[in-house]
Amino acid sequence: MPPKLPHHPNLRLAVMSLARVRRCITIPSPQPSFNRVIRRALTISSSCPPKHRPSRALDEYVAKPARPISLRQLIFFGSRNLDEKRILDSANYVRTELPTRIAHRIRDMEKLPYVVITNPHLSYVYDMYYEAFDTLRKIPNVKTMEDNIMFCEIVREALKEHSTVIPRLAMGVLESRGHLPAETLDRFMNTLLRSRISRRVIAEQHLSLTDTFLNPTHFSSRHRDPNDFVGEVFLRVSASSVIKRVGAYIQSVILQLHPTIPAVPEIKLEGHLDTTFPYILSHLEYIIGELLRNSIEATVIHHHKSTLASENASITTTPEHMPPVTVLICNAPRHIIFRFSDVGGGIPESEKSDLWSFAKSHRNRERLDSFKRIPKMYATLQELGTEEKESGVLAPKAKEEVRKEASLHGLTYRPPELKLGMGLPMSRVYAEYWGGSLSQTTMEGYGTDVFLQVEKLGNRLEQLNIDAL
Ligand code: COI
Repeated sequence: MPPKLPHHPNLRLAVMSLARVRRCITIPSPQPSFNRVIRRALTISSSCPPKHRPSRALDEYVAKPARPISLRQLIFFGSRNLDEKRILDSANYVRTELPTRIAHRIRDMEKLPYVVITNPHLSYVYDMYYEAFDTLRKIPNVKTMEDNIMFCEIVREALKEHSTVIPRLAMGVLESRGHLPAETLDRFMNTLLRSRISRRVIAEQHLSLTDTFLNPTHFSSRHRDPNDFVGEVFLRVSASSVIKRVGAYIQSVILQLHPTIPAVPEIKLEGHLDTTFPYILSHLEYIIGELLRNSIEATVIHHHKSTLASENASITTTPEHMPPVTVLICNAPRHIIFRFSDVGGGIPESEKSDLWSFAKSHRNRERLDSFKRIPKMYATLQELGTEEKESGVLAPKAKEEVRKEASLHGLTYRPPELKLGMGLPMSRVYAEYWGGSLSQTTMEGYGTDVFLQVEKLGNRLEQLNIDAL
């Protein structure tokens, strides 16, 4: 049983501040009258320095450069003679690389103006990063498999703890718009996200290699053929089957999100349909999911509206009446290029400049509201005592349905970031991370073409620094 909180407001606040640092007490949902006080207290506690911020250690790590890897190195390292030595080498690479990469980002945050870094969401992430940095830097050399198993536990826990970082950062950036130019905030967000992807890639790859080594049958429990994977890298991603699989999932999500629409457009595939290439499947699924979602939703909304406005208002919109979303796959010598074409009405001139931005959006209010609805995030944010609890939480049933739907299609459940209006900038971060690109051409009033290019040979190093692009 978690300890009960005292009734006296001052004592309650003190316990909550402590709990915030220790994360050991479950705070029952407070009365609405408490909300403002508690939020204020937590804002103060999260912007106060925690007990221990080893700034000299941070300086030391900031002075070290990150050591980026390529997809090919990830494959090579994990594929041949996976023995104990390799697993321990991998553990020690991750052990030293994680705190180095985190230290650089902590330093970035410290360079932000005081008013920005004291934003409750950003300051929460800052504290989290400092805590992770301090924990990871203190882990001694991993010398045995037993050490490695303990190390893996810490990494697994850190991955879980950090799962709310993206919405927190995004909310912090949106709330800081009055204090810094959108371009500066976007650059900050891009660097932080890219670094986060990089840390999760090396951490997850190590966990996966350890699992494979200790339990070679573990893949079968995840419905994957061990010969097709090296850790998290899928060696033979079939371009057309990933489109079909993610497409079917997105079609069902759109039907759930818009229960009044009768149908969704078809996804038509063209080009080099037998293309295969190595990639981290979850990254590709994320990008393709976002792009298909944009195209399908734009088509549905555009054509549903025009059908209703036309003389044939009685005609229901069926897939035959809706133009398909066409995905062209091109297997070029160095790249795989995907072109997503829709006839979804295009994007108005006034919205074009916001498309790739985390900080600028004509729908900022909407975006912020959506963030506050993320149930998973809400669970972590409940200590803020937000009123959003009453206003906008996705019903557990709906959440369960999306989760079920996702697993039916063989995808990992993601919280509905789909609705946050940051799918494009986030997808671009993913695409550029492995040296690819994402761009689009829109024809206002007609439709949009989006081009995703991925490196075929996986030779490019992780692109950790956005200035390097
Ligand atoms: C993150 O998800 O932001 C991380 O840094 C994870 C890492 C500590 C394993």
